[in-house]
Amino acid sequence: MKDTIRQLIQQALTRLTDDGVLPAGLTPAIQVENTKDKSHGDFASNIAMMLAKPAGLKPRQLAEKLVAALPADASVSKVEIAGPGFLNFFQDSEALARRLAIALADERLGVRKHGDLQRVVVDLSSPNLAKEMHVGHLRSTIIGDAVARVLEFFGDVVIRQNHVGDWGTQFGMLLAHLEEKPASAESELADLEQFYRAAKKRFDESEAFADRARELVVQLQAGEPECLRLWQRFNAISLSHCQEVYERLGVRLTPDDIRGESAYNDELPGIVQALRDKGLLTESEGAQCVFLDEFKNAEGNPLPVIVQKAGGGYLYATTDLASMRYRSQVLKADRVLYFVDQRQALHFQMTFAVARRAGFVRDDTALEHMGFGTMNGADGRPFKTRDGGTVKLIDLLDEAEQRAYALVKGKNPELPEEELRHIARAVGIGAVKYADLSKHRTSDYSFNFELMLSFEGNTAPYLLYAYTRVASVFRKLGREIDEIDGSPAPEAEQELALAARLAQFGEVLGNVAEKGLPHLLCAYLYDLAGLFSSFYENCPILTADTPARQQSRLLLAALTGRTLRQGLELLGLDPLERM
Ligand code: ARG
Repeated sequence: MKDTIRQLIQQALTRLTDDGVLPAGLTPAIQVENTKDKSHGDFASNIAMMLAKPAGLKPRQLAEKLVAALPADASVSKVEIAGPGFLNFFQDSEALARRLAIALADERLGVRKHGDLQRVVVDLSSPNLAKEMHVGHLRSTIIGDAVARVLEFFGDVVIRQNHVGDWGTQFGMLLAHLEEKPASAESELADLEQFYRAAKKRFDESEAFADRARELVVQLQAGEPECLRLWQRFNAISLSHCQEVYERLGVRLTPDDIRGESAYNDELPGIVQALRDKGLLTESEGAQCVFLDEFKNAEGNPLPVIVQKAGGGYLYATTDLASMRYRSQVLKADRVLYFVDQRQALHFQMTFAVARRAGFVRDDTALEHMGFGTMNGADGRPFKTRDGGTVKLIDLLDEAEQRAYALVKGKNPELPEEELRHIARAVGIGAVKYADLSKHRTSDYSFNFELMLSFEGNTAPYLLYAYTRVASVFRKLGREIDEIDGSPAPEAEQELALAARLAQFGEVLGNVAEKGLPHLLCAYLYDLAGLFSSFYENCPILTADTPARQQSRLLLAALTGRTLRQGLELLGLDPLERM
């Protein structure tokens, strides 16, 4: 609906420009918002206030000309001018009811993609295998998974790529440490985290050790068999830890999605050669670099993308260039989305630019860094254990489930143990995921068990509970949420407000898919749950005064239930029938 209104306004602007009322060449971002107070219509735009100045008119005068120039549309029943010059749009209730009937009759709730279906590569999770997966990898994994699910819902072909860090200097360090104490190697590897810390300590303390580590990296890159054997052992153990986390999280990632840094090894010399052939390489202190004019440091000197070190080793950037080429040329991606920490923004800006300049990436492949902020502790500082160590993801998930178990048992002590466990898992894991997904992707956020497990506010427990309320209405009537369809006839204010919001599901998902922002879906579902509450309080279903009214309300409830459930599933949460 907002898109429709935006298009109507655009047509009116074009008309006024042709008539000379507006100067040519204006390209304003047309804003259309939901109104708070339905006596002001369903949607409002401030476009007349934005353009009054260039038009040389008072905002209300321009608003009048705009209203006169707006093309008629079946979904808009009337347009009014309010206050200083807002345009208020009233949605036509019959058109609205038709949209809802279409949604009710369709498995995909009437949601279709505008524009062509695409092949989308989603780079997500991508932990470093040298260590155990920790909380820092949570965000990439679950935000990436949610966006991938939304793209798939639209019918895009999604290719998940888990670009694990299974190569590079940190492995030199680990192999050097193994070499020093070959006897105890097997037992020490059981605790990867511990082993990593010990090796890191040696690396930081001893120059000789650090040199040896760097040497071993080169040997590993040359395919020395003993190095390779040890390295494979690391990876197998580490990957099994990751898979365990994915399953606990209910994230759609399998071993088939892994294409780690090492997969590109054979291509790295070719990448450097191709850059050289294009005349893009410069040698600087023995290293092979690409300097791009558009990237400069604070002193105004160009910044390099280093693709090969003086000792011959390749870097993170080199591998990323190879993976960009693979994703564009071999996987034939229309879009490649990188769910990677915001702190790597410059890395991606620079490597994207190099990949384009070198022709590694087709012109019609879009490369998009979907950066995210840091997860902090409740104190607002980087998330750490009490003794200052990194928090293991698996420990965090255990605690979430335990807390949820206590919570659910407190509310519902008579539930059978097995069901209690099932609910605790959905609520606990869901709370961790939802707390993350509901924040704007690019902002930092504080991890807080109390807040995320609250039954009030924009939380997983609140939304999971909202769905069970809808489900219980149907249980009481002995009906099925998925069974009924038809055309609702919303009349009461609360019915109309709920109906209008229900009709916006596809538009919201479109924004999530385009911008990679799952919090938009969270905010929508939260709003929908609130609208359902006031509808449910004010418009009785079970005791409605006529059968027609009851049927119409049931239809609204059914569509609310299906939308909540579908939305939760797209976020990677596990909806419950009761809790
Ligand atoms: N392993 C990297 C890290 O933990 C993230 C990799 C992201 N993906 C990529 N194509 N660079 O920082």
